[in-house]
Amino acid sequence: MKKVYIETYGCQMNVADTEVIFSILSGAGFERTEDISAADVIMANTCSIRDNAEQRIWGRIDSFNTVRKSRPGTVVGILGCMAERLKDALLDSGKVDLVAGPDAYRNLPSLLAAISDGHPQIDVELSREETYGDISPVRIDKGGVSAFISIMRGCNNVCSYCVVPYTRGAERSRDWKSIVREACDCFASGYREITLLGQNVDSYLFEDVDFADLLAKVAEVSPLLRVRFSTSHPKDISDKLIETMARYPNICRQIHLPVQSGSDRILEKMRRRYNREWYLGRVHKIREVMPDCGISTDAIVGFCSETEEEFRDTLSLFEEVGYDSAFMFFYSERPGTLAARNYPDDVPQEVKNRRLEELIALQNRLSLESNRRDLGREFEVLVEGPSKKNPDELCGRNSQGKMCVWPDTSHKPGEYVRVRVLDCTQATLLCREA
Ligand code: SAH
Ligand code: SF4
Ligand code: F3S
Repeated sequence: MKKVYIETYGCQMNVADTEVIFSILSGAGFERTEDISAADVIMANTCSIRDNAEQRIWGRIDSFNTVRKSRPGTVVGILGCMAERLKDALLDSGKVDLVAGPDAYRNLPSLLAAISDGHPQIDVELSREETYGDISPVRIDKGGVSAFISIMRGCNNVCSYCVVPYTRGAERSRDWKSIVREACDCFASGYREITLLGQNVDSYLFEDVDFADLLAKVAEVSPLLRVRFSTSHPKDISDKLIETMARYPNICRQIHLPVQSGSDRILEKMRRRYNREWYLGRVHKIREVMPDCGISTDAIVGFCSETEEEFRDTLSLFEEVGYDSAFMFFYSERPGTLAARNYPDDVPQEVKNRRLEELIALQNRLSLESNRRDLGREFEVLVEGPSKKNPDELCGRNSQGKMCVWPDTSHKPGEYVRVRVLDCTQATLLCREA
């Protein structure tokens, strides 16, 4: 059997895709390896979201080539968003034998077979229908507690800075029946947490089942199965969804609600199709219905023409919401996007860096404040395994998604434990068993 090694970059959707790829390849007689030096096929499932993501992958392609030169016949393949964006340019580099975009994975066995005749292969066709709904993923996370389930593909939003609609194509929702079946399979094989994935889960629609309906169906698989989801778009998150979450204790009290900017002029230019007031209204609604709900976000600083004052609007919005955590980035121009075609990338790099540092420093304080509010509280935590720092401690997350650690060697991954928070850092709640 030929051995396949895959490195996965980018978002959780890529992790879920790699699991689909392993399933397709194992059906065609390939075997998975985690040892690059034993691999006949070396692949990277790639990300194009920012330039530094791509630069990192070019670095990996060079290392794969060192292996390829020392072991002629080894195949190097590029999958995912960078494959879709760069297409033939990857083959033209002479460092790659295979390029396959996100909707071409069913063809991987035949593409790999064709390469053995010595010809590089490319398939970057995007599809309006492909959801891989019938494929049972081969889980790559060895923990066996938490699994990703992809519920839709693509994105129809075309935010002006974003490459995803070009690399992943049009939005399509997967049949809810296959999603519920996959959740049942996960539960039966011991998983206790699933995360439903899409670029904009709130616009999920299959026949007459919307995202709130889907969430309820998945939550009903078992009260012992925790359900999370990502990502919500502020313009689409509905009262029905928020109320559905509140009805099921096993739907985790955590919403990732990327704001991107606190300035109305910048939001308009980003084509996000909501303003600050609307966003704060959604946060208010979430907290009204679920006062204990964790809220996290993504933000971009230094978008085209962003002034100091507009950046301050992002700072003040962070302060006003008091996020539990956030992913923060400086704007990276992506070729072909609306922003790249229409607006100069005119905020100097040193200004972007300084704004990013300032925002990160603010969020560090907000994360610490959020954790301090939990001191003395009790939470139910799903055990993931031993903590990374201390083998006599276990770690796991609470419903809000916060990482908890506590001294314990008796519980097993997948069990629920009640803990009380004694102390905290900015990243972790330090607990004991309650
Ligand atoms: N679908 C999700 C986001 C997916 S991309 C949503 O709409 O919220 C993840 C994050 O990467 C985005 O939320 C954004 O903050 C960031 N991002 C996307 N394009 C970027 C770019 N060109 N430069 C910098 N950050 C970017
Ligand atoms: Fe990109 Fe916007 Fe789609 Fe998110 S919603 S993937 S930011 S285009
Ligand atoms: Fe990256 Fe593609 Fe995800 S660009 S963030 S891997 S959808």
